[in-house]
Amino acid sequence: MAFKRIIKNWRVPKGQELTEFDKKILSYQNRGCLVPKNKLIKTPEQIDGIRKAGVINTGVLDMVEREIHIGMSTGQIDKLVYEYTMDHGAIPAPLNYEGFPKSCCTSINDVVCHGIPRDDEFLEEGDIINVDCTTILNGYYADASRMFIMGKTSAKREKLVQVAKECLQVGMEACKPWSFVGDQANAIQKYAHKHGFSVVRDLCGHGVGNEFHEEPDMEHTGKKGTGMLLVPGMVFTIEPMINEGSWEVCMDAEDPLEWVILTDDGGDSAQWEHTLLMTETGLEIITY
Ligand code: MF3
Ligand code: CO
Ligand code: CO
Repeated sequence: MAFKRIIKNWRVPKGQELTEFDKKILSYQNRGCLVPKNKLIKTPEQIDGIRKAGVINTGVLDMVEREIHIGMSTGQIDKLVYEYTMDHGAIPAPLNYEGFPKSCCTSINDVVCHGIPRDDEFLEEGDIINVDCTTILNGYYADASRMFIMGKTSAKREKLVQVAKECLQVGMEACKPWSFVGDQANAIQKYAHKHGFSVVRDLCGHGVGNEFHEEPDMEHTGKKGTGMLLVPGMVFTIEPMINEGSWEVCMDAEDPLEWVILTDDGGDSAQWEHTLLMTETGLEIITY
């Protein structure tokens, strides 16, 4: 059965008095907007837990930033991520997640995302690499990634890494309370195109916090005013994947686990990611 109308996600138990918050969400819902399910609004206790996971997650990425160097294997990065995370009483979410065999993703050059760390893959001068870490602490999740440039690289790669970072920034700035997923998506798309790059469409950001991947899909391309309404209490990622050539991606035929995603045209790709809390006044960056 296909739903012709948007599903009414927001529910108030019968007989319960409406809060101002209920009234505001219902006014959008009654106009036909896609609003979040109640469970996507985090409680203060959940927010506290997610913030604490964010502290460890930022610690992991800071550690990677200190340790990463030319000649290192991506397998070594994975080992450092595993050890740091466990030493801080947390769990790396990628490990054994839907068959993923390692504790983080390491995506070099034309690898868009979900690169699998290996002991026989070594970082070379000029490489650009994304390290994506997700931390579970007391059942709460925080998810972030950064790019690292190995030594001296080409001007084009440097620009790609920089513009990808700015795309995340521009997306965050467009992400106001009571805005739509499409508002930040549109801002990201425009910014990337202005700089001559494309935005991957087949993968997106996501709600996060109580689980690894929750609703909504945080698209990075689209029209203003479309997609789910973003209201205070929601936690989600923005993580645009920016390509130097075409936006199209493909599965790495060499990867039997069917995780690794490559650019279709063999061009380079870059990505930065933050976990974000929507508040009454704007975004709080959970993974700073
Ligand atoms: N961290 C990735 C994201 O940003 C997801 C990786 S799934 C894994 O959503 F299994 F590959 F780790
Ligand atoms: Co993510
Ligand atoms: Co991630």
